[in-house]
Amino acid sequence: MSGLPMVVPEPGLPGRVTIYEVGPRDGLQNEKTAVPTATKAAFVQRLLAAGLPVVEATSFVHPRWVPQLADAAELMSGLTAALGDAARELPVLVPNERGLDRAIELGLRHVAVFASATETFAEKNLNRTLDTQFEMFAPTISRAREQGMDVRGYVSMCFGDPWEGAVPVEQVVTVGTRLLDLGVGQLSLGDTIGVATAGHVRELVGAFAAAGVPADRLALHFHDTYGQALTNVHAGLQAGVTTYDASAGGLGGCPYAESATGNLATEDLVWFLTGLGIEHGVDLGAVVATSAWMAGELGRPSPSAVVRALTPSVS
Ligand code: HMG
Ligand code: MG
Repeated sequence: MSGLPMVVPEPGLPGRVTIYEVGPRDGLQNEKTAVPTATKAAFVQRLLAAGLPVVEATSFVHPRWVPQLADAAELMSGLTAALGDAARELPVLVPNERGLDRAIELGLRHVAVFASATETFAEKNLNRTLDTQFEMFAPTISRAREQGMDVRGYVSMCFGDPWEGAVPVEQVVTVGTRLLDLGVGQLSLGDTIGVATAGHVRELVGAFAAAGVPADRLALHFHDTYGQALTNVHAGLQAGVTTYDASAGGLGGCPYAESATGNLATEDLVWFLTGLGIEHGVDLGAVVATSAWMAGELGRPSPSAVVRALTPSVS
C-alpha cells in the first residue's frame, strides 16, 4: 500500500488547484480543549512544511467571542520570530477595524473579512444585521487595501442556514458582489453547516458567473456534515473553481452555528485531487502525520477518513 491513490485523470477538469488550509483557524476556533500557543505554532509550521501554499493562522476577533483564539497576537509574534517575513504572508480573520489594527501592528499582509448571507447568522456571528455588517467591512477593507494588504471575503451560510432554512442563490450573490465591490480579492463561499449538494454548487457558481464574477475570483469552503464535501468539490472543479478551503484532519466548525461540523479534511481533498492527477503541491504523508500528531494533542481521533486509513494506530 503506497499511501497514494492510482492516478486516473478526468478530462475537462483544471490541471492545478490551490488548497487554502484553514485548520489552525476554522479547526481550532471550535475546540473544547485549550490548545497551547506553542502547539498552534508547531501546527502552522508543520502544515507549511507539508507544502500547503496558504495557511490561515488565526483570527483577530473579540477574545470573548472566540476564547480559543484569544492568543492570536502572541501566536503571530511567535511565528514571526520563527519564520521571519514568511509569517507575514499567513492570512488571519479580521471582522472589523479593531481586528485590522491588531493585524497591522504585527505587519501582517493578508486578512479576511467574513460576511453572512443570512440575517440570523449576521446577528449571531457578528452582532450586526445583514445590511449593517457592510458598515463594519467597508472601512476595514478600504484601509487594508490602502496598506497594500490582500483581502479575502468569506460569505457564510451560502447553501442553507440552521435558523432560516433554504438560502436563495440571489441573496448569496448580492452579499458576495457587495464584498467584491468593496474591494475584496477572492470570495470564499462557505457551506457553514455542510448542507450543500453538487447541483446547488453548480447553480451558485453559475449565478456568480451570470452576475459577472468569474470562477477564478471564487473559492469554495465546504464542511462535511453530510459527507458531501468531496462531491461538492468535484462539482466546483467542473464549474472551473480552482481554490478549495480545507482543514487538516477535518477539524473545525463554527462556535456560532452549532450544526457546523468539521471542514472538508485536507487529506481527503489531497487524496481526491491526486487520484485525478490534479496538481496541488502538498505532501500527503506529511499532512497525515501532522493530523495524527494533532489528534494526539487533542486527545481524540481525526474525523478524516484518509487520516484514519493511513494511520490505523490513531483511529
Ligand atoms: P460587538 O460586541 O458588536 O463589538 O462584536 P463592538 O464593535 O460593539 O465592540 C465592543 C468591544 O469589543 C469594544 O471594546 C471593542 O474594542 C472590542 P470596549 O470599548 O467595550 O472595551 N472589539 C474587539 N476587540 C478585539 N478584537 C476585535 C474587536 N472588535 C471589537 N476584532 C464582533 C462584534 C464582530 C467583534 C464580534 O461579533 C466578533 O468578534 N465575532 C466573531 C465571531 C467569529 O469569530 N466567528 C467564527 C468565524 S466565522 C466562520 O467560522 C465561518 C467561516 O469559516 C466560513 C464558513 O464556514 O461559512 C469563515
Ligand atoms: Mg468554516
